Amino acid sequence: MKIDNIIFIGFMGCGKSTLARALAEDLDFVFLDSDALIQQKFNQKITTIFEQKGESFFREQEQKMADFFIHCQKACIATGGGFIHVSNLENIGFCIYLKASFEYLKKALNASEISKRPLFCDEIKAKKLYNERLNKYEQKANFILNVENKNINELLSEIKKVIK
Ligand code: S3P
Repeated sequence: MKIDNIIFIGFMGCGKSTLARALAEDLDFVFLDSDALIQQKFNQKITTIFEQKGESFFREQEQKMADFFIHCQKACIATGGGFIHVSNLENIGFCIYLKASFEYLKKALNASEISKRPLFCDEIKAKKLYNERLNKYEQKANFILNVENKNINELLSEIKKVIK
């Protein structure tokens, strides 16, 4: 299978950045992280961008990242949980959804990790968002990978079987 890029989607806490970085190292691809690039651009944390500029501004920045990613090659790309709303996701590359239950994700994020995520701070709202997005993640994915109770090597080998 000829693949330009591999892009990871999924809800907060599913391990998109960790896995994208590990796969990039394994395949000798470039590692790109949408949230990290947005933070670097403004030299601000995501929470500060949400507070000072608002969520819709952040979503516009995600769209700009997507417009950049379509020109990339041989990159493993980590995205934020809301990146599925960009208009051209299917043009970026092979899309892998890292799937886990809300309860599993909640346990995976410690208090410090939750505090970096403005949309996870209120658990009831976060669960609602999770339920709203579930179908969308599945529809957008070329491959759905259940991540629960698997270590990084198991996840990498499942991905490599699919992209070969
Ligand atoms: C968001 C997820 C976050 C980050 C922002 C919004 C979302 O990324 O982009 O806080 O809408 O789900 P992670 O999925 O890496 O936590």
